[in-house]
Amino acid sequence: MKDIKVIGSVNIDIIMSSQKLPTTGETVKADKYYLYPGGKGANQAVAVSRTGVRPEFFGKLGNDYFAEIIINYLKKENIDIAIKYGQNTGIAMINVEASGRNMITVYPGSNGNMSIDDFPDVRIKNSIVLFQQEIPLKTIRDFITKLREDGNFIITDPSPYSADKYILENSDILTPNQTEAQLLAGCDINSIEDARKASEIIRGKYRNNVIIKLGSRGSLVNYNGEIKYFRAYAVKAVDTTGAGDCFNGAFASEFLRTGDVDKSVEFANIAAALSTTGYGAFPSFPYQNQVIRIQEGN
Ligand code: RIB
Repeated sequence: MKDIKVIGSVNIDIIMSSQKLPTTGETVKADKYYLYPGGKGANQAVAVSRTGVRPEFFGKLGNDYFAEIIINYLKKENIDIAIKYGQNTGIAMINVEASGRNMITVYPGSNGNMSIDDFPDVRIKNSIVLFQQEIPLKTIRDFITKLREDGNFIITDPSPYSADKYILENSDILTPNQTEAQLLAGCDINSIEDARKASEIIRGKYRNNVIIKLGSRGSLVNYNGEIKYFRAYAVKAVDTTGAGDCFNGAFASEFLRTGDVDKSVEFANIAAALSTTGYGAFPSFPYQNQVIRIQEGN
């Protein structure tokens, strides 16, 4: 593989941090407020870039004020951008409470009508390609059909959850979190042993490799039928938003460098943990040297 492409969503994230999340009908006072670019696709692209590989990002924004803010941020992050414009930029309203738990409501905007026809000249060869599921599933299917002919390696984050058989069967690695893995496997995951069983069910159903992201419990990898558990790097989390995206981007960077799944999962586990120690999605994503320092015990 020669480089990394990310195809997916980009949003403006409106983040409010309060002592506790509101319940239905309740109003709570926020102590902090942030406005940052986000979206699972853009977040993964930033994680790739910060961990040492300049990626190309394919996404769709609106013809509005938010688009300019986002483009400026992405350029500063050393990302090559292939952006198309629709009507409105996607917006995510993110509530975070002191424990680090969050609630997210997403208005898809232009992400919701991104299509392969927006990128008629795209030709991707021998690349690692990252997908998530915040753009139409048909668009992902169309891209995958085109990409499979050209020796690409496809990593799909089935998030937000949707079990599209074609996407799942035609990805080289799936990276569900615990909830998504439960849904894909049709069983509960309450322990590492449960995660191991779920990974076997998912691999059996979709004939691919699986990395289950278990948050503060680490990751369970089922690659070529070999199952391994990797512990998380322990941190004090303040906001877990985007941690899964950070994992995928960091994994892809290290996998491009080493071709080694175990090393890449260890690297991604540290990056994802560090990303939870600050607010927002990508503003808290670590750089390659921060992860290496921890790996070297400094
Ligand atoms: O995964 C986190 C992301 O989900 C946020 O950045 C938000 O935009 C939503 O898409």
